[in-house]
This record gives sequence, structure tokens and C-alpha cells, in this order.
Amino acid sequence: MKAKELKKKYLDFFKSKGHAIIPSAPLIPEHDPSVLFTTAGMHPLVPFLVGQVHPLGNKVASVQKCMRTGDIDEVGDSTHNTFFEMLGNWSFGDYFKEEAIAMSFEFLTRVLKIPLSHLAVTCFIGDEDAPRDETSATKWKQLGISTERIAFLDKEDNWWGPAGSTGPCGPDSEMFYWVGKDKPPKEFDTDDDRWVEIWNDVFMEYNKTQEGKYVPLSQKNVDTGLGVERVTAILQGKDEIYQTELFLPIIRDIERITKKKYEDNTKAMRIIADHMRASVFILGDERGAVPSNVDQGYILRRFIRRAIRHLKSLGVKDINTSIFAEKIIDMYKDEYPLLEEKRNFILDELHKEEERFTKTLEMGLRKFETMTAVSDTISGKDAFLLFQSYGFPIEMTRELAEEKGVSVAESAFAVEFEKHQELSRVGAEKKFKGGLSDASEETTRLHTATHLLNEALKTV
Ligand code: SER
Repeated sequence: MKAKELKKKYLDFFKSKGHAIIPSAPLIPEHDPSVLFTTAGMHPLVPFLVGQVHPLGNKVASVQKCMRTGDIDEVGDSTHNTFFEMLGNWSFGDYFKEEAIAMSFEFLTRVLKIPLSHLAVTCFIGDEDAPRDETSATKWKQLGISTERIAFLDKEDNWWGPAGSTGPCGPDSEMFYWVGKDKPPKEFDTDDDRWVEIWNDVFMEYNKTQEGKYVPLSQKNVDTGLGVERVTAILQGKDEIYQTELFLPIIRDIERITKKKYEDNTKAMRIIADHMRASVFILGDERGAVPSNVDQGYILRRFIRRAIRHLKSLGVKDINTSIFAEKIIDMYKDEYPLLEEKRNFILDELHKEEERFTKTLEMGLRKFETMTAVSDTISGKDAFLLFQSYGFPIEMTRELAEEKGVSVAESAFAVEFEKHQELSRVGAEKKFKGGLSDASEETTRLHTATHLLNEALKTV
């Protein structure tokens, strides 16, 4: 099944179950000062999870643009990526555990036709904050999942949220699919990585406070999430997301341009493909950012520069990332028409960053040479200067140092970097003051009124 069909089937299914289908919110969050990007489908819905009334009712479903940059250094292996789309369905104080689980089960077994023999689940084991989740386990058993296929795990595995440091969260129940070539074992071994997670049903009935306490919310909510890229790969029997139609056209372009094979240059090509997709979606977002040294702009800069560096390492002399951007826009423009509208802007910004990077790259390399002529260690301050003034991500300084046989004081760099991040964070907090999950009722009302007015103005 192709990703587009998966998304359509999902939304059709939840529509048939009385859910309103809502559009994706921007990738750059409107109201959360604690994060740079929308990290989950529930993120833009926090106000409705804490009691605000959603104008389209108390059951909604969506395909949400998401970005997770916590594992940015891991991108290049077979599982990590940054930008992805998340399917999700929500109940704002409407249905709860049993109905959510029944719908998940029906979608997996009837619509996606996953055999019962290939499914296993986990439930929350219970602790001082919330009880053991027998309700979910009993429901799974009623639906036909055997006791050996139900594992109980602690907060580390079976608790989700809050998305920031405070806000709605709760125990969850995760569904796993057997991808092994052999027959699935009777018993579910949570350490066997041939069981892969495909869906997460979160039962958001708690609010985590500033003090770290979990207090019951005024309503019991459901928040579920499936990653489109990941589930597409699983359903297609592919070992990695990069082998699906969502990445393969970009990988083929990289192979054509570099005249090199994916099999021999897997890591670099995965990084280029992932970072180009992420860059296109940041630039083409409703609240889009441009490359800079702070906040979302810095993440974008890092994506573009890292992609360029890897293209260079594959032997490309004349860098032109537009080729990949054009392909990505073509792939997604029907679902995200704004990408088409912003096509020229996206291509222009990529081009400007390519030029800037090539310039600072040469100056930075000269600076690097002067630094290493007098010392065989790059100090934390120097590594930070290379980052701050010449746009060298730390991994680039590390690689250059290795080639030259000198070392980098990385922990000292980390201290400098933390200071910089802290300053950026303070900046971001000022900018985004009025985060809704902690906002007063009046702010929330004014916010809603602004949305309604904007929508009316657009319509008129
Ligand atoms: N918020 C949960 C997750 O991201 C379910 O959507 O996994």
C-alpha cells in the first residue's frame, strides 16, 4: 500500500466513525514556547485536551506535519528521520480506552488487513502516579489478543507526554507488528526488534504541573499516533523508510547526480534525502523560517549545510539542491498546495544558503588552518567561533580535525553551545509568550477570536 492510500484509508475510516477531519497545523508551533517544531499530532490540539471546546466537535482526526530533531545525529541509520507525517485521531472528553482500542483494532485488522497472528500490544504497568491499566488489557483480550501477546511496561515505555515540560499526558497502549521472516512466536518478547511499534493510543487524563505532579484533567481524552513513513515501510515489507516511494525518487536523483550507488553510500544519501525533505517543509511552512543562527532558522541552516557537505563528500562540485527540492515539492504539492505557492521562495532561499555556505566555508577553512597551525587542539571557544561565525556544525569541525590529526575540546564546546542555546531559548520564550496550555481563559478566548477573524477575512 502506498502512503497516499494509507492516509486516505485512515481519514475515511475515522470520518465513518464520526470524526471531523482537520487540516495539518503549521510545522512551526503557534503557541508552544518550549519547542521549535510540532513534534506530534496532539501538539496543536493541547488547548482542546485541557478543556477548550473544539469548533468541529469532540472527535477529530488529521495528518499532521511533524519534526523531531532530538536524534538529529542519528539520521543516516535505517530508522531515524526528522520530518514525518503523523496520522492521529482524538477524543476530547468523548470516547475513552475501550472505544479507542476497538477502533485501532478494527482499522489494523479490517482495513489494513493485518492478521491477528502478527499483532502484540503493551499496556501501562502502574506506579505511584497512575494505576495498572487492566481496562486496556481486558479490551485487547476481548478482541482476541492472547495473554502472551500483552506486555505490561513502565513509564519509560507506556506513558506519553507532555509534549513540552508541562501539560496533558497519560498512560498509553502500543501496538506492535511482527516483521520477522519466520512465523511469529506465540509469546511477545518486547526485546525482540522484529516486533515493531506501529501505533500508539495515549489515554490523556493527567496534567503534568510545573512541580512535576500528575493531576487529573477535567476530561478524559484519547490521543493516537501512527507515523506515515514508518507504517508505509512496514506494510510494504521494506526494511527501511528510504526504500519506500517517499524517499526513493530523491535517492535515485542523488545517485544520478553523484554517479554513485546507494548501496555503497547509504548513510550520506539518507542524510541528504532526509535533510532536503525537512528543509523544504520548513521553508514551505505556513509559519516558515529562513536560514539563520537561532531557533528554527538554525536547524534549517544545519539541515541545508549538512546536506551540502554530504553532496560534496560524494564528489559533487556544483551544488544545486533545487533539484531535490523540486522533486519533493512535486511529490507533496497536491496535499500541501502552499509548497507550490512558495516554490520560488523555497528554491531562492536554498540557493542563497548554498552561496553563503560556500563563502563562509572557504573563510572558515582558512580560520581552521590558522587555529591548527598554532595548536594541536581546537579549544571549545574556537570550535564555537567556527560554529557561530562560519556556520560549521560541530560534526564538521570534528571531521576536519580528524583529517588533520588534531583534537577538538568537545565538552568545552558543549558548554559554549549550551549558553548559546539558553540565550536562544530565552529569546524564543519572549517571542512566544502566551503559550496556550498555560494561558489564562481570557488569552485563550482572544486567541480563538483571532483565529475566527483570520478565517473569516480569508474567506471574504
Ligand atoms: N502523542 C503520541 C505520539 O506521538 C500519540 O500520538 O506517539
